[in-house]
Amino acid sequence: MRDSNVNFGVLHRTCQLLVFFCFVYISATLVYYAKSVNFRLAFVQNPQSHSKTESSKLEAKDAGASELIIVTLGSNFSESSEPGHRTLEYCPEPSPLLVGPLRIEFSSPVSLDTVRHENTELHEGGRYTPLDCMALQKVAIIIPFRNRDEHLKFWLYYLHPILRRQQLDYGVYVINQAGNETFNRAKLLNVGYVEALKEYDYNCFVFSDVDLIPMDDRNTYSCFSQPRHLSVSMDKFGFRLPYNQYFGGVSSMSKEQFLKINGFPNNYWGWGGEDDDIYNRLSSKGMSISRPSGAIGKCRMIRHDRDKQNDPNPQRFDRISHTRDTMHKDGINSLSYSVVQVEKDLLYTKITVDVGKPTK
Ligand code: BGC
Repeated sequence: MRDSNVNFGVLHRTCQLLVFFCFVYISATLVYYAKSVNFRLAFVQNPQSHSKTESSKLEAKDAGASELIIVTLGSNFSESSEPGHRTLEYCPEPSPLLVGPLRIEFSSPVSLDTVRHENTELHEGGRYTPLDCMALQKVAIIIPFRNRDEHLKFWLYYLHPILRRQQLDYGVYVINQAGNETFNRAKLLNVGYVEALKEYDYNCFVFSDVDLIPMDDRNTYSCFSQPRHLSVSMDKFGFRLPYNQYFGGVSSMSKEQFLKINGFPNNYWGWGGEDDDIYNRLSSKGMSISRPSGAIGKCRMIRHDRDKQNDPNPQRFDRISHTRDTMHKDGINSLSYSVVQVEKDLLYTKITVDVGKPTK
């Protein structure tokens, strides 16, 4: 009888201890859970307390997406030396979002509203920055322009999704020549370079005709260790280069490469020659041309009649033969123009400029 009393006492105390440990365990779990919920809410309610790009990602999500945010942070953000502060990792190269060859056609017209609806991730002025990684380059895309609204719609329709998949931090600048004087493509490109830099610290410049669309998104619209020619196999030329030194259509240059050649010539009025002059500038400075393969560099040109006030420039052959003598005084260091109007659309920044007229 006494033995059984002792056993009962031991059992009773053991049970009490067990209940006590269970209580401690449950309390600790509840405290930990409450803290983690607070932490998640703090991320959603106060995104400004994190880095700029991180906060824009968070702002884009609603409070109900807090789970998703935590997952995203875990996969693409890394801890910096400051405790609690996270920074974006660089975007991988090549972008995992690329799909390769694309079907490009111009049979049915597109409306700007449709294009706007399909590109809601953009910021005003045709700006885009990847949200879950830090872009490797800041690219200004410069399009010389006059009276080609139909072409511009196709360009925006096809290019924005491609550029987003390329994970670039980019802006689109349409440089519109005011008035009816002879067109000056290269001068408009110089203007685009200067105007884009007034807005953002771009380190790469892509110069694109408005009527050229790449047929493969692996043809990255960014800069390389040498100036890049991107439109290497155009349908217009039977998907091959018309000649080895051809540098027309779409090209890219880093800020450094552009400045090394004093930018582009300002005195090529009318069609032709300015791209050959740019090629001469690059080769005279010891640079070579980098190109994607013929397959990746395929592109389509939107067919059109010759523009008014853009007849072939009869002086071009003479000018091309003197590039080495003229390039140091004619270029970004001698550029003069005036801005007539700046329009900000979701899809682009359009800058209308007076670039003057040819001197007789
Ligand atoms: C012109 C270039 C043009 C090329 C291809 C050359 O004769 O000088 O400006 O891009 O032909 O059409």
